[in-house]
Amino acid sequence: MRAASAIALWLVASACASDAAPSAAASDAGSSELALARAELGRLLFYDPILSIDGETACATCHSEHWGMSDGLPRAIGAFGGSLSGPGRQGENLGLRNTPALWNAAERSVLSWDGRAESLEQQALLPFELEAELALPVADALAALSAVPEYEALFAAAFPDAAPAISRMHLASALSAFMRTLVSDRAPYDAYEAGDRGALRETTRAGLRLFFELECDGCHTPPLFQSDRFAARGLSSETDLGRFEITGEPNDRHAFRVPTLRNVSESAPYFHDGRTKTLREAVQHEVEQQAATLTESELDALTELLAKGLLDISRNPDRPERVPSGLPLPRDGFRIPR
Ligand code: HEC
Ligand code: HEC
Repeated sequence: MRAASAIALWLVASACASDAAPSAAASDAGSSELALARAELGRLLFYDPILSIDGETACATCHSEHWGMSDGLPRAIGAFGGSLSGPGRQGENLGLRNTPALWNAAERSVLSWDGRAESLEQQALLPFELEAELALPVADALAALSAVPEYEALFAAAFPDAAPAISRMHLASALSAFMRTLVSDRAPYDAYEAGDRGALRETTRAGLRLFFELECDGCHTPPLFQSDRFAARGLSSETDLGRFEITGEPNDRHAFRVPTLRNVSESAPYFHDGRTKTLREAVQHEVEQQAATLTESELDALTELLAKGLLDISRNPDRPERVPSGLPLPRDGFRIPR
């Protein structure tokens, strides 16, 4: 129940904070109850391996709160990789790319490393068809869900006005409602910006100055330290042409979407193919891309800004103890050493 109340608090907070969203403006007790029911249903779906061909792989296999909403692997390993998630996972369905952390993904208008999706709802259905992810056609997923009475009831409660309650659109909508709760915006940096000068120690403040001096903010734009821009960062490979795969524009060769730097210390390894093990090495690479050289202590300061100054996992999701299918959740006994 901790999760449900955390989500409720977040929904209330976001309804108060944004008067831009018409749905929030029109929100009454009834609609926020529905939003809550959808996010809670989405949480169960996100952790439930019923959505995969092998009955062992869930969204959370790759987007796990134990690994910063990623998986700790250089590149994702999809269905038929057993029930283990995190480093140590093995299997034949090795994907091409590193799993993005989902923090603040709701604020984006392009998703995936190459920007193939334009909304969470659209993105949420992509893993189903992919061999390297869930490998289960959406129609089969809907049939499996319809066979579980608990899901029938949960979908009917979350989507009372439309029949059938279990549909493609509602599946995408519930998963997205859950992902909208993955907000990270209460880091020490935020307290500092709000006027608490003591929230960042001197080294971290030096890192923040460097961040602007080196123009990192041109792409990793505050306050979320992300943007929907694409850029090639000297990490080309023959097998993955990035944005070019979608647009066919020569300038888009090897360009990838700018990832968020919020909570980035939680989701090593780095870059679109996970080729870089530590955050410090990743920062060093990005500094070189800016044609700059830093002293060791400057590099430490910049790394510390990202590792500590931008860390807020207060709204990490709660892993359900059980899911409606009754299937075992992905096994993930590891914890990130902090
Ligand atoms: C096998 C691992 C795996 C599974 C399972 C998986 N994902 Fe992902 N997810 C990825 C990878 C890898 C990407 C990046 C894909 C790309 O750029 O081509 C991604 C991208 C995303 C994104 C875009 C994030 C961004 O910042 O652009 C969202 C949202 C997402 N996944 C949600 C989900 C949901 C919801 C599920 C379950 C229905 C799911 N994923 C299942 C590995 C996985
Ligand atoms: C021109 C846009 C641009 C600028 C400027 C920029 N970055 Fe990046 N950054 C990117 C892109 C795009 C990626 C992903 C590249 C890839 O994986 O191929 C990235 C990736 C990263 C990553 C790895 C994140 C992850 O989750 O894998 C870190 C850390 C990072 N940048 C830090 C910085 C720092 C620090 C600076 C300033 C020194 C900086 N960046 C400047 C565009 C930019």
